[in-house]
Amino acid sequence: MTKNRLVSRITRHKWGILLPAMIVLALAVTWQAAFAQAPTPNPLPNVTGVDITKTGPAATMMGDPLSGRAIFATNCAACHNKLGVGNLPNPNSNDGTVPPVNPIDPGFLEDSKGDPSIFAADLDLFLQHGSRPAGPNPTLSMPAWGDTKGLTQQQIADVEAYVMQLNGVYWPGHFYPPAEVQSSAVSSGNVVTYTFTLVNDGSSALTDVTLQDTLPAGVAYLDSGYPQLGENPAQVSGSTVVWIPGDVPNGGSAGPFVIVASFSGSSAPANVAQALFHFQTWDGTDFASSVVSAPTSPK
Ligand code: HEC
Repeated sequence: MTKNRLVSRITRHKWGILLPAMIVLALAVTWQAAFAQAPTPNPLPNVTGVDITKTGPAATMMGDPLSGRAIFATNCAACHNKLGVGNLPNPNSNDGTVPPVNPIDPGFLEDSKGDPSIFAADLDLFLQHGSRPAGPNPTLSMPAWGDTKGLTQQQIADVEAYVMQLNGVYWPGHFYPPAEVQSSAVSSGNVVTYTFTLVNDGSSALTDVTLQDTLPAGVAYLDSGYPQLGENPAQVSGSTVVWIPGDVPNGGSAGPFVIVASFSGSSAPANVAQALFHFQTWDGTDFASSVVSAPTSPK
């Protein structure tokens, strides 16, 4: 056997093993990609005559996540928990708990890969038709909001946009920061106490967090603390009050941040605090964002 023929035999032999191995691998990858599927609903016994494989009008309506947040708090949080973090008991279901939507089952993200029209359609099947969880006699089932007209199609589109926001996916032009600054104020004499809490409305941690408040004209800083007076006073420079509280985890909040100030007028003016932070979208991309509180004055 010449040297050349030997080399060619070895080469052929090598490909003889490698090629089928590569084909098997390629098939496995394609199979995985083709079958990475979002969960689909099971029929509800009390809702009949509907096709649970078909989306409704809401699936293509590009809802508003901010309006969806309020709809979620009223209609969904009782079962899916505050901020959709799940884990509330569902006796006699196989899962034992109601599934979280923050973060949501990874099948929704793998199927949609950041495409809001696919994500919304996958969610819409559950929102329109509801679903009875697997198990002998689940106490809680997902209600059929569309089929029973429990919510309008616009409300369904909005709450779908909120569930997408919780997981770092947005309709184009419908971005709203995945966080909120809740606020309240009380006054006594000419002293006002403003209280701010930063809530994480997303599935990633909020990082590089700054909470800052530039006090309105006529208001003079007296004291501050986090989570109460006497602890972690803010950095104060002029009328600007700043805390750097550290990361806010998924489902979590930071605060309350308390600011005590005196005011000169007849009533304490409205005050707006701002939070700056980073968050991650569905695929881990890092974004800088910020959000402000509502203008806050004593009631
Ligand atoms: C009465 C309790 C209840 C309420 C209220 C409720 N859900 Fe559900 N939801 C469930 C249960 C239980 C499941 C699991 C269904 C299953 O396993 O097939 C579920 C499933 C889901 C799913 C699919 C999640 C997954 O991982 O499969 C989404 C999305 C969802 N709900 C969103 C919402 C939204 C948005 C609202 C408010 C408009 C809402 N749910 C209100 C009980 C509820």
